[in-house]
Amino acid sequence: MKPYKELQQQLQGQLKPKRYKHTLGVVDCAVEMANQFGANEAKAQIAGLLHDCAKNYAGKDLLTIASSSHLPLDQITLKEPQLLHGPVGAIVAQNKYGIQDEEILNAIAYHTTGRKNMTLLDKIIYLADFIEPGRDYPGVEKLRKACEKDDIDNACILAFSNTIRYIASISGLIHPRTIDARNALILKKINQ
Ligand SMILES: [Fe+2]
Ligand SMILES: [Fe+2]
Repeated sequence: MKPYKELQQQLQGQLKPKRYKHTLGVVDCAVEMANQFGANEAKAQIAGLLHDCAKNYAGKDLLTIASSSHLPLDQITLKEPQLLHGPVGAIVAQNKYGIQDEEILNAIAYHTTGRKNMTLLDKIIYLADFIEPGRDYPGVEKLRKACEKDDIDNACILAFSNTIRYIASISGLIHPRTIDARNALILKKINQ
């Protein structure tokens, strides 16, 4: 695998300055949370760095890459191709940045929607994306506070609830993986 600094330089040339700044914020938060929750710090750093590596791609390019890579294309994804910047990001991370690690690739792939039975690294990247210092939206402080506590699942449930509530308020399409992710975490709590 390429050294982190090299990946960082390569990525910087690909992202708009605002997106790059957001990315560095996600890296810092992801590393901090990896230490807090006992995840692999180096993996969190790389997953955070590359999570939005396909964010600047146009919808039609995301669809082209997704179909040539045989990614499943459901109705919702076809209508909202930007949802693909996660799964396509994982393909780009593999092909352009040389990342082979499954855990890192999955955290990139599922950072937009979440998924059922998320790994600790999935959860860290999902949350870091929402709480990095550049983020400013109603409820961000409450989510930051939830992330400081010991229960990362509670923080994820709050983030999923915020997302679902927001998408519902604009009558948008909610990806079933987001519902599955939230339900899985709540079921885990009930069954504990
Ligand atoms: Fe993203
Ligand atoms: Fe992001």
